[in-house]
Amino acid sequence: MDQSPTIEVFKDLEPKLRLELINQAQSAYQQAYVPYSHYPVGSAVLFSSGKIYSGCNVENASYGLTVCAERNAIFQAIAQGERDLKGIAIAVPTEAFPSPCGACRQVIREFAMDCPVILINGSGLTRLTSLQKLLPDSFGPEFL
Ligand code: THU
Repeated sequence: MDQSPTIEVFKDLEPKLRLELINQAQSAYQQAYVPYSHYPVGSAVLFSSGKIYSGCNVENASYGLTVCAERNAIFQAIAQGERDLKGIAIAVPTEAFPSPCGACRQVIREFAMDCPVILINGSGLTRLTSLQKLLPDSFGPEFL
């Protein structure tokens, strides 16, 4: 993955917070409820308060009700009054790196014009990207 377009946005995310996001995303997937896909995902999100929230995917026998880890983490933060998303980490236990689904990209966009996105695979390797890269020319709240 090309790292160059992401350098700017990562300047605002200090290394200590990056590590904390990575650790919390990795812990979060251990709580994933995935009896159908067997694909655990964990996510951790940093908001402007400096607090980090985490979430896992939660599946349902009625498959369409499944909630992704990213949205679970973000909604937990929003429920605590947070609004300004500063960064997100997404971790999986598989060798293949995760990639947030389209719906989650749009939910991230609701709370950040752009932000660092850290992808973590099962070996603990990381890939850095950004919301702008994952969702270019996006629609957001300022349109309304
Ligand atoms: N999933 C996530 O939680 N986040 C992603 O970025 C991709 C997909 C979940 C939804 C479902 O529980 C499982 O992964 C398989 O799609």
